[in-house]
Amino acid sequence: MESIRIFSPASVANISCGFDVLGLALETIGDFMTVIKVPEPGVRITRITGQKLPLEAKKNVAGVAALALLDKFEFEGGFEIEIEKRIKPGSGIGSSAASASGAVWAINELLGHPFSKLELVEFAMEGERLASGAAHADNVAPALFGGFTLVRSYEPLDIIRIPAPEDLFATVVHPLIEIKTADSRKILKTSITLADGIKQWGNLGGLVAGLYTKDYGLIGRSLVDHIIEPTRSILIPGFDEVKRAALNAGALGCGISGSGPSIFALSKGETIAKQTAAVMKEIYGGLEIDYDVHVSNINPYGIKEIY
Ligand code: HSE
Repeated sequence: MESIRIFSPASVANISCGFDVLGLALETIGDFMTVIKVPEPGVRITRITGQKLPLEAKKNVAGVAALALLDKFEFEGGFEIEIEKRIKPGSGIGSSAASASGAVWAINELLGHPFSKLELVEFAMEGERLASGAAHADNVAPALFGGFTLVRSYEPLDIIRIPAPEDLFATVVHPLIEIKTADSRKILKTSITLADGIKQWGNLGGLVAGLYTKDYGLIGRSLVDHIIEPTRSILIPGFDEVKRAALNAGALGCGISGSGPSIFALSKGETIAKQTAAVMKEIYGGLEIDYDVHVSNINPYGIKEIY
C-alpha cells in the first residue's frame, strides 16, 4: 500500500470525573487525512485545508508524532501528509489529538503494522506535548482505540478500552471562542483536598461501572467534577446556563469537554441528545455567541480508512 486516506475522530477528554485519564471518541466530527509513502526520507506536511496551521513538520502535531514513530523504525523512505482540518484548534474536542493520532495510525498501516495501538498512543502523545506542553493521552487514546478509554497509568502507559452502551449519545456545543489547553492547564490548582479526591474517585469508579453494566442512572450520577470544573468553567461563557438546560432537557450529565470551551452532555438515546442540542443552541443564541453543535453516537472503532 502506497497511500491511505483516513478519518480521525474528535474526542471528549476528562468526561467530568476523569481529568487526564478518561476520554471518548465521537463519530460525526473529525479530520480527514491522506498519507503517502515516498522515496525521500523524512516527513512533509504538503497541504492543510480548513485551518491555518504550520506546515513545518517539527512545528505541526501530526509531523511531530510521525517523526516520533520514524525515530523508532528503520525506514529508508518518508511520508507526505495532507490534512483536511474539520476540528477547530482550541475547541476542546481533541483537534491536535485527531491529527497526531491520524498521522501515526496511517503510517503504521503503510508500514505493515509494526507498532501496537499502545505504542501509537505514545507517539501521538508527542503531538500533544507540542500542542499543550503536556503529553496527556486522554484524547489520543480514544481516537486510536475508539469507545471510551481509561489511562490507568502513564508510567508505564496502561490503557483500558471501555465499551459504551449502544444507546449512549454525546451532544457537544462549541461556543466559538478559542481556549488553548496550555492556558487552561496553567490556571489549575496543583493540589486537591482529600475530601474532593474521595468524591472524584468515587465518581470515576461509578462511571466505569455504569458503562460496563449499561446502568444509565449510575452513569448520570457519576458525571460530576469536583476538582477541575469549578476552576475552568469561569472561562466558558454561559456554562452554568447550558449545563442547567441540558440536565433539564433530560441529559444524564453535562460538563466541560477537555479543556473547553466546548461543553459536552451524555444522553440515553438520540432523541434526548438532539433535544439537548436544541436547548444549548437556544442559550448561545440568546447570548448572541456563535457556536457549533454536534450530536454523535460513541465511535466504537476510532480512526478508520476511507475508500
Ligand atoms: N486532559 C486534558 C486537559 C485534555 O483537560 O487539559 C485536553 O483536551
